[in-house]
Amino acid sequence: MKLKIAPSILSADFGKMNEEIASVEPFSDLIHVDVMDGHFVPNLTFGAPVVKCFKHKLPLECHLMITNPEKYVKAFAEAGAEMITIHVEAAGNKTSEILKQIRALGVKPALSLNPPTPIEAVRPYLDEVDAILVMTVNPGFGGQAFIEDCLSKISTLRRWKPTLEIGVDGGVNAETAPLAIQAGATVLIAGSYIFKAKNREEAIRKLRV
Ligand code: DX5
Ligand code: ZN
Repeated sequence: MKLKIAPSILSADFGKMNEEIASVEPFSDLIHVDVMDGHFVPNLTFGAPVVKCFKHKLPLECHLMITNPEKYVKAFAEAGAEMITIHVEAAGNKTSEILKQIRALGVKPALSLNPPTPIEAVRPYLDEVDAILVMTVNPGFGGQAFIEDCLSKISTLRRWKPTLEIGVDGGVNAETAPLAIQAGATVLIAGSYIFKAKNREEAIRKLRV
C-alpha cells in the first residue's frame, strides 16, 4: 500500500487557512481536519460552516473529536469531506449505525480510538470502515509526544486485516514515522512537525523515507 501523508491543519495559522493548505498540498496526499467540540476533548476548533470555506485540491479527512457525531456527519459531508472519522468512544453502541450513515452520504467512514482504549474496541467494525485511525496522543492538542505503547495496536490491526488502511495521528515526526510505518501504518498525520517546519516540503519528504 502506498504511504500517504496527511498534514493536520490544527497547527496551521487559522487566520490564513487557505494559504496554509496550499503550502502543503503539492507534497501531500490528503488534508486532515481536526474538529473538536470542547466536550469529547478539552479544546474547540471549528464546525462544518468553516470547513465549507476551505479551498483545497486534495481530499479532506474530517476527524470528528466530538460527542453525538451522528448529528453532524451530514453537515461535514456537505462541507466537502471525502472521509469522516468518528471515535469509537463517542459513538459507543451506535458505531455501526453511524458508519453506515456516513457511507450512505457518499463519504468514506473511518473509526478512531484514543490511547487508553483497547484495540479490541474497533475489531467488530473492520469490515465496515475504509480506515482505522490510531491515536498516538490523547486528542485535543497538537505538539504532544508520540506514545510508543500505541504501536502494538497498529501491528495488531495489520495482522487482523492485511489490506486495512491504518492512519497514525499524534506526535508524528521524522523520528517516529519509521516506527509507525514499520508497525504497519499507511497514513501519517502530522501537524506541528509540518506546519512549524522552516521548510515544509523537506519536512514532508523526510516522513516518506
Ligand atoms: C490531536 C489531533 C491531531 C493533531 C496532531 O488531537 O487529532 O491531528 O493535529 O498534532 P501533532 O502532529 O502536532 O501531534
Ligand atoms: Zn486528528
